[in-house]
Amino acid sequence: MKVDTIYCGDCLEVLAAWPEGCVDLAFADPPYNIGYVYDAYDDDLPPDEYVAWCQAWMAACQRVLSPTGSFYIAIGDDYAAQLRMVAIKLGLHLRNWIIWAYTFGQNARTKFSRAHTHILYLTKHPKNFVFNDHLLRFPSSRHTEYQDLRASPKGRVPNDVWDEFPRVCGTFKERDGYHGCQLPESLLARIIMASSNRGDVVLDPFVGSGTTAAVAKRLGRRYVGIDLSPEYVKRTENRLAGVRDESDSRPEADCWPPLHVDFLKQIYRETKVIYSNLRPNQVALRVIAGALNARAGGDYYDADAVAAMLDKLYGSNQLPKLPNDTPFQARSHAKEEGKRYTRKVMRTRGRKQSIPTAESGLLMDI
Ligand SMILES: C[S@@+](CC[C@H](N)C(=O)[O-])C[C@H]1O[C@@H](n2cnc3c(N)ncnc32)[C@H](O)[C@@H]1O
Repeated sequence: MKVDTIYCGDCLEVLAAWPEGCVDLAFADPPYNIGYVYDAYDDDLPPDEYVAWCQAWMAACQRVLSPTGSFYIAIGDDYAAQLRMVAIKLGLHLRNWIIWAYTFGQNARTKFSRAHTHILYLTKHPKNFVFNDHLLRFPSSRHTEYQDLRASPKGRVPNDVWDEFPRVCGTFKERDGYHGCQLPESLLARIIMASSNRGDVVLDPFVGSGTTAAVAKRLGRRYVGIDLSPEYVKRTENRLAGVRDESDSRPEADCWPPLHVDFLKQIYRETKVIYSNLRPNQVALRVIAGALNARAGGDYYDADAVAAMLDKLYGSNQLPKLPNDTPFQARSHAKEEGKRYTRKVMRTRGRKQSIPTAESGLLMDI
């Protein structure tokens, strides 16, 4: 296994050639068996075949994980329960069943709209694993609502429902445009910071547009990715060529490194308090400074520096959007009654197979 490499091939074959225990963290976002259109993969297996295939790649990832390694699997509703059962069968330990609740999902008319993905957070060992809580903290509502000085000045750790990561939609700067499943970099940053250290090896067996590898590289981890599609591999390599390891960044004079600005934006998103309410709250600003310093790896910023950067980001319209954070302004298109925006995007095709049912005999037979 060669680190800092994207392999083109079937992850089962590629992983079989690697030594045991050579990666520290694995993140897998496999095809969900929902008829999604990929470049080189038919996402429409019979349900039992799909689950058997998942069992095979999960076992392959488990084998290459170090004894203290962590394994995250993103999966849709249809197969989340089956993959949990497979994890039990393989002897992996569930730390959290995370719900990633996102905005910009698709509207349904005959049921409640689906707006989440499951992320199973598993470890190889029940007690011995990396979990960097200090890199995940942000102000709690004790700080933001009550300015309660008894609350931990380090802030709080996120819970298992993650709603701070909007899906990468068409207008986002980070969107590469060719891979419809591109995950947000901020989501991967949380996982990589939580469960690996600088220099650790991060594996993504379904690398797609290369999000995991790109974030791992930026945060000073070593990456290794696999994808079936030569086209996706080529584009991932191009994406990685534009990413550098920023984990050693330090501020110079008043100039913040881009990575630290991104950390602050993410802490703002996690804090979920709009600028005008957050700005006068010294208690919360102090917690943000501490949380930011932990992520940046040095004692660089105080509450005043954080306040000044928030002002700058706000003034240049660069703060992440929070729900209802902008004053109402009448827009001219709202007056054109009946105007609809239509966009034809064909992402899934008719499916040959149905999802698992009790009749399929699949539900418990794993
Ligand atoms: C859901 S996408 C991953 C998207 C990725 N997380 C991102 O942020 O871009 C799944 C990927 O798995 C790849 N794939 C499917 N079967 C594979 C296999 N057997 N081995 C390796 N890659 C495979 C597909 O080509 C596709 O790019």
